[in-house]
Amino acid sequence: MLRRLHKDQPASFAFTPANLAWAKGQISKYPEGRQASAIIPLLWRAQEQEGWLTRPAIEHVADMLGMPYIRALEVATFYFMFQLQPVGSVAHIQICGTTSCMICGAEDLIAVCKELIAKTPHTLSADGKFSWEEVECLGACSNAPMAQIGKDYYEDLTADGLRKLVARFSTGEVPLPGPQNGRFASEPLSGLTSLTEGAADRNPLNASLQLAVDIGDTVKRIDGTEVPLTTPWLGKGRGADLG
Ligand code: FES
Repeated sequence: MLRRLHKDQPASFAFTPANLAWAKGQISKYPEGRQASAIIPLLWRAQEQEGWLTRPAIEHVADMLGMPYIRALEVATFYFMFQLQPVGSVAHIQICGTTSCMICGAEDLIAVCKELIAKTPHTLSADGKFSWEEVECLGACSNAPMAQIGKDYYEDLTADGLRKLVARFSTGEVPLPGPQNGRFASEPLSGLTSLTEGAADRNPLNASLQLAVDIGDTVKRIDGTEVPLTTPWLGKGRGADLG
């Protein structure tokens, strides 16, 4: 698949102050002359902030790292995780279409995306709120079929369940991620068969879900204030000195 920069680009890009501090923290991990090693985390944070990776963002990151633009472009166009076109203002929905999910109904989920969002992937819905694509295995095969929506996984999906999720996201709700059929995690549908000790008094949410709820950044554009900046490799309390 040919990956090119989108024809419509914004005029400029700047990190938010908190994202800039975070980016400087990442760069400080690497010895002098090796700053280019921070390219992927910085491009990723730019995408988390804007929703997609714009040409000004790629060039801004290249400037920060002292890299020729072409080298930053090579990275951005190589990795499919970088979105090179605008994504939905509410959510970009990534449907896993690999074996387990395909067998368990991924094609039905893709049909819902085509019907509710757009006939083709990487295309904005009429209201601009959603976009979708099919992706390779996201490592949640026990909970197939599944989709990544924003940062989190929505698992054990059905076509009707996905329809309802899209409707709820559309009104500004952020439905609870994780298994959508009542499973705690990836245990058998019939319930635990081993490691049953402690199951009765466990947290109602699995650890991943609890973290998603605590941070609340499932479909949020990341501005860097979501979690405190920590830079333990610089020594305690140095995170604030990076400006
Ligand atoms: S096949 Fe879909 S998560 Fe692995």
